[in-house]
Amino acid sequence: MSNTGAVGIFDSGIGGVTVLRELVSLLPNERFIYYGDSGNFPYGEKSAEKIRELSFGIVDFLLANGCKMIVIACNASTASALDALQKAFSVPVIGVIGNGAKAAAAKTRNKKICILATRFTVNNKAYVHALKAIDTNIEISQIACPHLATVIEEGWHATKEQEELLSSYTSQIDRDVDTLVLGCTHYPLIEHDIARRFPHTIINPAFETALQAKQILVDNALQSPNTTPHPNNVLFCVNADMKKISEIARL
Ligand code: DGL
Repeated sequence: MSNTGAVGIFDSGIGGVTVLRELVSLLPNERFIYYGDSGNFPYGEKSAEKIRELSFGIVDFLLANGCKMIVIACNASTASALDALQKAFSVPVIGVIGNGAKAAAAKTRNKKICILATRFTVNNKAYVHALKAIDTNIEISQIACPHLATVIEEGWHATKEQEELLSSYTSQIDRDVDTLVLGCTHYPLIEHDIARRFPHTIINPAFETALQAKQILVDNALQSPNTTPHPNNVLFCVNADMKKISEIARL
């Protein structure tokens, strides 16, 4: 695997851009190929088998385009496909859930953590397992937000209906929770509105994920030979509204 390849990153839609931003800021000399599978959105309402099948198709595409490592910037795909992708391919593949769990476990003071996520990620319990593996004393609650990612994907304007939808989920957070994990990569796009309802610690797994990506590039001698920031360093492959993606990305 050549160190001149791009870092491949994917999500079911625009949410993975929240991870891409951190990657670009931490790894300015790298090139990135971002695949947003908006044509198959939402993953959070699909079966594990279907999400895995879609994820394999995207990774095949990214590898065919010379990617040297893969970042799964989607919680549903991380939950259903990370292990299988790591076994199937020789390039490093990382996801967001272990990183989000690690960040949350490090931040919580009272060991009461809540996960906001899509229906698939909640039912899969990947965050519960990842947090319990770090500390069995952590108490974890989960809230499935089946329509939230869709509303964000279609365009968040903080309308009355959208605010009410968000409140219907955040009002379920137990009072004693001190740390909230944004367990869907779309949610950091409205972190400001979530923070108004939960004025405590909010974990966006993106930063830890970017740190892990950097470490893996170093460990595998895969860092780009470029010594200066790469201009136009992101190639977007998105079967959706490109204007919307580039506005959100603002890279
Ligand atoms: N961005 C995806 C995730 O992090 C969720 C959106 C979807 O349901 O496709 O799980």
